[in-house]
Amino acid sequence: MKLLHVVGTRPNFVKMAPVIAALRAVDPGGRHVLVHTGQHYDRMMSGIFLEELGVPEPDHMLGVGSGSHAQQLGGVLEAIAPVLTGERPDLVIVPGDVNSTLAAALACAHLRIPVAHVEAGLRSFDRTMPEEVNRVLTDQVSELLFTHSPEAAANLAAEGIRGDRVHQVGNTMIDSLVALEGRFRGRGACAGHGLDPGTYLLVTLHRPALVDGPMLGAAIDALAAVSESMPVLFPVHPRTRAALDERASALPEGLLLVDPVGYLDFLSLEADARAVLTDSGGIQEETTYLGVPCFTLRDNTERPITVEQGTNVLLGLDPARIAEVPGLIAGGHAGPAEPPPLWDGRAAERLAAIVIGRDRA
Ligand code: UD1
Ligand code: UDP
Repeated sequence: MKLLHVVGTRPNFVKMAPVIAALRAVDPGGRHVLVHTGQHYDRMMSGIFLEELGVPEPDHMLGVGSGSHAQQLGGVLEAIAPVLTGERPDLVIVPGDVNSTLAAALACAHLRIPVAHVEAGLRSFDRTMPEEVNRVLTDQVSELLFTHSPEAAANLAAEGIRGDRVHQVGNTMIDSLVALEGRFRGRGACAGHGLDPGTYLLVTLHRPALVDGPMLGAAIDALAAVSESMPVLFPVHPRTRAALDERASALPEGLLLVDPVGYLDFLSLEADARAVLTDSGGIQEETTYLGVPCFTLRDNTERPITVEQGTNVLLGLDPARIAEVPGLIAGGHAGPAEPPPLWDGRAAERLAAIVIGRDRA
């Protein structure tokens, strides 16, 4: 069996590393091809993840890079089509909800190559988010849909996707975290920023709805105010950095804006944080597994289980609410919980058994 895996962005590497490893382990004689679209390309957004997660060197680098949605979607479609035609894989595996995911899936659909979608069925029901459009369309053209959340099957059924294509395998992003637990626990990455474990608010913000407009300035002002009562560490995504540059000089001492950090360091920072403020999808999940309080600066989440479990509080897309975070932490409004079912480090193993079993059937 020949499998082709597609990655392109920071969260994709985390979701796919265990899948690639598990499929290689269960089918050592199989052929595996890795395509990197190049949607993310800085070392701290790409290369360091491949290294720390032990992902093999990509066989094809498409070098699509940054641009508008049209440029990224079109760029991946155009660049991946000859790779697919040349490689003729039996199955293409795509993760998550980024532009690279949808473009690769669409190229396969037109070439009649079956697609498997890792992290299928998540829905925010907010079509103003490019990721929601990418999820819905990728699921529609996928033959195998691997889910990690209990509500995913119902979401897919509501869109007319047959239940026999859907497999609840668990969370492969959590597989990566579990596999590296021995390396990030006790790593003490916060000391490198002059911080003590359990004392600081870790922040990531990168959604266009927040950072591509005036709300970003209001969020920085609110974080500056919070930093008077607890240190704030903010590894800044490049999209956010581009919007921030002119403000970055006038920050208070307690608000630390740093470059994006590698995966092991980030997991260490998350595990040791007093709480996390974010608009990331993956970080809502990781904090749920780690039992770290998470405050999500969005109106909705495609990951409601993180809220139901009690670790995640949806603050709304409103920078003014950042001021409430210290009080919410003190009041214990988000806190440790049990990880959801099948967020156990073995999702990729279950996924691989299904892929290979289907081929042998
Ligand atoms: C993308 C995904 C988003 C995901 C995020 C993960 C889409 C539509 N969005 O958003 O769902 O949550 O990745 O981080 O696919 N840039 C660099 N260096 C890089 C990569 C990006 O400087 O290595 C800068 C460029 O200025 C670029 C901007 O970041 O224009 C945005 O990058 P892009 O990949 O378009 O979107 P993200 O915001 O990263
Ligand atoms: N992450 C990281 N360094 C950072 C910020 C995030 O390693 O500076 C990791 C984080 O642990 C998670 C993933 O990147 O595994 C989440 O990516 P991101 O928030 O960019 O994307 P999303 O999940 O929102 O699509």
